[in-house]
Amino acid sequence: MNTHTSETTQGGPLRSLLNLANAPESELRKQASQRPAQDTVAADQFASHIIWLGDEPMLPERSYRGLAAGQDFGVQVTDLTYEIDQQSKEHLAAKVLQKGRAAYCKIALDAPVPFDPQKADATSPVALFLDSAGGGIVGIGIIDFALRRSTNISWHQTTVNQAARARAHNHQPCVVWFTGLSGSGKSTVANALEQKLHSEGQHTYLLDGDNVRHGLCRDLGFTDADRVENIRRVAEVARLMADAGLIVIASFISPFANEREMARLVAGDILFVEVFVDTPLAVCESRDPKGLYKKARTGELKNFTGIDSAYEAPSWPEITLHGSEYTPEVLADQVAEYLSSKNVFSV
Ligand code: ADX
Repeated sequence: MNTHTSETTQGGPLRSLLNLANAPESELRKQASQRPAQDTVAADQFASHIIWLGDEPMLPERSYRGLAAGQDFGVQVTDLTYEIDQQSKEHLAAKVLQKGRAAYCKIALDAPVPFDPQKADATSPVALFLDSAGGGIVGIGIIDFALRRSTNISWHQTTVNQAARARAHNHQPCVVWFTGLSGSGKSTVANALEQKLHSEGQHTYLLDGDNVRHGLCRDLGFTDADRVENIRRVAEVARLMADAGLIVIASFISPFANEREMARLVAGDILFVEVFVDTPLAVCESRDPKGLYKKARTGELKNFTGIDSAYEAPSWPEITLHGSEYTPEVLADQVAEYLSSKNVFSV
């Protein structure tokens, strides 16, 4: 690991964080519920010290629930600037933050919270990271300062809007998101679906995991943190393409429920259809079209989904396809019928 400068000036916040980590939950929630008294500005991006308490490591760009200044919001660590060694105070390079570790980072909230910029760090506002499922405290932040970058950027309203673009395409834009194990058949079905829609005159674009990893995401591997970032980028691209009026078909393992939910949220008011290609692991492994399962079993390939990396099956997908029972064409027809039932093709 890389070491940088030593942590001389941040002894205060680090000590405060360690104290907070031992405080009762009620005290933490009380502190995070305090609204600043006066002279506040609202901000949605901050530099912050954090300590992680969750059993699962903190992954940058993953969405958590948050509580600060008495407000609930969604929160992500957008930049894990450095981990802080609690003994030596040295700054360490880190990609994820494990339980019990402290770090300095940048965080982004999905709504602005009031913040008193005058406060000295010993009494700086406390932000809590909460588990998105159960609501338990998984991390504590002590806000250092607000980042002003977001306050100078506004949303520019364009004259030609999404509805106008959709009318020109003569269909409703949407994001059809295929998820499933490697070898489940999602790319084959996605391809058959695109072929069918294209031949019927629809305007489509297929975003495929293997292809995107040659360009936009070529810097990413298959650690949990890299998969989170992969899906974040693709979700944004899918939304842009749907905003341009296309029927976007995305085919990614997208193994984590959290990031699939994030992709749905990013799509906003655009129709989002989650398609679970439910093919048993044993079938995927017997197909092994790229020989990757074989490599994963011999240990030649690490972090392989379904072998030594998790796949969280969707609980409530719009469509479940039984990938070992029907041909790709039949499965593609099932998706097309669903889209038709949602009036995608008749604007
Ligand atoms: S995701 O998990 O981040 O959604 P993505 O769909 O982009 O994955 O890429 C998956 C493709 O990468 C697979 O189809 C497979 O060909 C290839 N691949 C290479 N290494 C791995 C790995 N360790 N785990 C899963 N897929 C891998």
